[in-house]
Amino acid sequence: MVRIPQRVLDIELPPFDPLNLRAGELRAQGRDVISLGQALPYFPPPPSAVRAAQAALSSPHVHLYSTDPGRPSLRRALAERLHQEIGADCEAGDLVITAGANHAFATALTTLVNPGDEVVLPAPYFTNHYMQVQASGAIAVEAPLVDQKAYTVRWDDLSRAVTPRTRAVVLCTPSNPTGATIARADGERIVSELASRGIWVISDETYMQFVYDGTHWSAASVNDWRRSVVVIGTFSKSFAMMGWRVGFILADRELCEQATKIQDAMIICAPTISQIAAEAAVNEDWDYARQFHGEFRRRRQRVAEHLAGVPGLDWSPATGGFFAFVRVDGCTDSPALAIRLLEDAHVVAIPGAAFGRSGEGCLRLSYGSVGEGEFERALERLASYFSRR
Ligand SMILES: Cc1ncc(COP(=O)(O)O)c(C=O)c1O
Repeated sequence: MVRIPQRVLDIELPPFDPLNLRAGELRAQGRDVISLGQALPYFPPPPSAVRAAQAALSSPHVHLYSTDPGRPSLRRALAERLHQEIGADCEAGDLVITAGANHAFATALTTLVNPGDEVVLPAPYFTNHYMQVQASGAIAVEAPLVDQKAYTVRWDDLSRAVTPRTRAVVLCTPSNPTGATIARADGERIVSELASRGIWVISDETYMQFVYDGTHWSAASVNDWRRSVVVIGTFSKSFAMMGWRVGFILADRELCEQATKIQDAMIICAPTISQIAAEAAVNEDWDYARQFHGEFRRRRQRVAEHLAGVPGLDWSPATGGFFAFVRVDGCTDSPALAIRLLEDAHVVAIPGAAFGRSGEGCLRLSYGSVGEGEFERALERLASYFSRR
């Protein structure tokens, strides 16, 4: 008999797959199913990235490995942009190019955390963070946020969960699943409290270019960030390059050198062709996502208008991301609610329970994932379903 370690058996797949499977069956029966499930931007990648990849196909280098931590020209260009974008005092040596943000997070965890260490996740958390902590053999500690409306993260939320066994705290700003961002003063306090205790901050800033009110606060913008901060980033959302699998770790050069060993052991390097495309995006289209901010703001407003008219639904528009994390009065089984919504209204939404115990009673709507017509139809169906409920 195959014996699987308990830590792997304990990992649960998020509910996206069964929902998508059922959505596929309904579509095959001719139903018009609209998915507000996946965290995808509705726009295509920038033409500069596609052109660069097409041109690269005729170069022999594209078929080879790159250097382990990524192409030097991409690391240089990205360091310069990040310096301007998030105020991080950094250079090429402080970056490892990875196969996406999830892989960056896995590499950072493997580099920093021992089995049995505690890793604190403010909750609701991003499901894959929780799964990866489980996979690493560390212990995931859920720190429910006190403010379960605006979902702001403050030091007081974390201080209760931090113990002498805490090795790292995971931040996610803007947050998946809530879209909430961490305010500068709160973030600076969190980083400094944790640094003084020798605890790492792993800050997933996948949505750094999707902040609509104010500016993005990055954990790497604090003085002395190198001592205790690792930032995770990606090309998946800002440049809609999900399938290209390219992201990065931003951390002190010494840490990057250690992480490069893990990267070499796992995948050697991020896909070369994706790095070439990413470099073109960095050089020619760094601000690409910003041209869609107007549309994201408009949709956020449309969601607020629709939900405001429905008794029993509660949501405060968030400052970033493209998520509405909506509380449903009386809901104690969000997976069952998501199934009913799919069956009756033909809309896919993700049950809040997928993002931790404190997410129960909510649904996550990814309002940036579909075209405008589908988006409007989905809103009408949601309002009509919940008005009848
Ligand atoms: C917060 C967060 N981190 C990481 C990822 C994974 O991104 P990537 O495609 O770069 O692995 C996602 C994707 O939804 C995300 O929302």
